[in-house]
Order: sequence, then structure tokens, then C-alpha cells
Amino acid sequence: MNQPRITVIGSINMDLVTSAPRFPQVGETLLGTDFRQFMGGKGANQAVAAARLGAQVDLVGAVGDDAFGRELSDGLVQENVNTDGVATVSGRPTGMANITVAEGDNHIIVVSGANFAVTPEHIRQEAQRIIEADIVMAQLETPLDAVIEAAKTAKQHGKPFILNPAPAQKLPQELLELVTVLTPNAYELAISLGLSAEMPPEELIRHSPCPVVMTLGAEGALFSDGKGGLHRQASFKVTPVDTTGAGDTFNAALARYWHLGLQEAVKLACAAAAISVTQAGAQSGMPSEKTLRQFLAEQTENAN
Ligand code: RIB
Repeated sequence: MNQPRITVIGSINMDLVTSAPRFPQVGETLLGTDFRQFMGGKGANQAVAAARLGAQVDLVGAVGDDAFGRELSDGLVQENVNTDGVATVSGRPTGMANITVAEGDNHIIVVSGANFAVTPEHIRQEAQRIIEADIVMAQLETPLDAVIEAAKTAKQHGKPFILNPAPAQKLPQELLELVTVLTPNAYELAISLGLSAEMPPEELIRHSPCPVVMTLGAEGALFSDGKGGLHRQASFKVTPVDTTGAGDTFNAALARYWHLGLQEAVKLACAAAAISVTQAGAQSGMPSEKTLRQFLAEQTENAN
């Protein structure tokens, strides 16, 4: 499938990113080294990453009637994301993420704003985008009842539904039963299922009522095949600059290459995520399909 049609239900944020030599202690004031503004939001990131990889992407979400909202909407259009399903709402500011990047990792606080104007009614109005999609994706930065509505519509029309349960919250059984594949990290899976975060990843996956592709950061991914088997995909070694958006790139590539089968899709998702962390900002490092294929060819050459 050259250009799968992917519909993303999700958040759109302006990321305000401060770089620091380390994370501050509670109550400490620390001098940062840089401040930059990037397009972000898990939904928008997944939409952009999928579009760069060659998918036809529709985004369903909401921005505020403000400067950030206009800038983000324009940016999405420039990235070839169809924003006809993105509402502009008054009375709520565009979503914003306060991000600190330090020690090769990040801390993120999201103020949802207009993202919480994505309601079940909004999803019903945009249902055609789900019905016409090859695959549907969502995360948890928009209200849960809207995510459930999207999952129900996808199920009714036989469309695979990928749920990235981030930020983590306990998920109702109803939603877990509608999901084709859940894509948490280990902590997110524990919270999603209401289990202890101390439980080993393999055991957490075995407790899930739906198939899981678990991201393990620098350790790659662990995934269930739906028949009781567990498989591991090693990561691709790169020097990370900023890990923000790596999970979103992973999810987008998983959806983009879904038609190739789970094992190949997870491998390509790990490679795309690895490339994405080599530049600052959630979306800057997201690869095109050509860059992804070149990266994989170089990896194969280096291994021989
Ligand atoms: O997954 C990364 C994203 O999480 C950031 O772009 C930020 O907006 C938050 O939503």
C-alpha cells in the first residue's frame, strides 16, 4: 500500500522547550541554556510523522482562536496534513506543553486548553474520516469519551485502531476491547491496566486483554502477536539530542507500515523513532520515507 490513509484523533500543542544542563530539584532555580518554540502535541506529531513517511493523513482535533492555533494549523497544512477535521474554538487557548530537555531526556507538563473541546459529538461529525481511513490512531491528550467514540466507529467499520495510552490513565475495559493494538511504555501499560508499575514488562503484556506493542526506549520494543507469543525488536543505536516525539514517530510508522505485518512494522517504527531523536524538537527529526530507507540500508551495511 503506497499511500495508506490514516486518520489521527488527537492533540495539537505549542511546545515551549527549555534546555538545561540537568533537571532542577524541587524548589530550585536553575539557569537554562536555551529556549525554543516547536510545533507539538501527540496527535499533531503522529499526523506529521505519518505524512512525512508518505501516508495521506487527516487530523481530527481542536485549536484555540489565537496566534498559536493559527501558527500550528498553518504548520500542519505545510506538512501535508489535512486539517479540515480540526476545529477552531473560542474561549479556550490552544494546547501548550512546557518541556524541559536535560540529561538526554525530557519532562513535559501539558496544559490541554482547546484539546479538551474534542468531544464525542465532534468525533461523530468527523466520522467519515474514520470510515474512509485504512487505519485510525489516538492518544490520551483529548477527552477519553471522544477516544472511545472514535474507537467504536473504527470497530463498527472494521478499521484497525491504534491507541497510544499517553499520558497514562486507567482505561475502561470497554475501550481496551475496542483497541486493535495498544502502544504504551511499561509504566503506561501498568497504569492503563490498573497494575503495579513494578511488574516486569512481559508479565504486564500477558495481563492485557488486547495486543500490545510496548516501547522500551533505548531497548527497542516488546510486542505480543495476539497468539500468546512475545517478540523483541532491538533498538537502532543513535546519539540522542532530544527524545521528545520519539514515541509519536514510533506510533506513526507503526500505522504507516501496518500493512507489512506487525514484525516489519515494529522494526520500521523503531528505526523511525531512532532517527527522530537526533534533532531538537518533537517534529524536526521525523524522517521522510527516503531518509528511513537510507538509514536502514546504512545499518545493514554497517552490520556486514
Ligand atoms: O509526545 C511528545 C508531545 O507530548 C509533545 O510534543 C508535547 O506537546 C506533548 O503533548
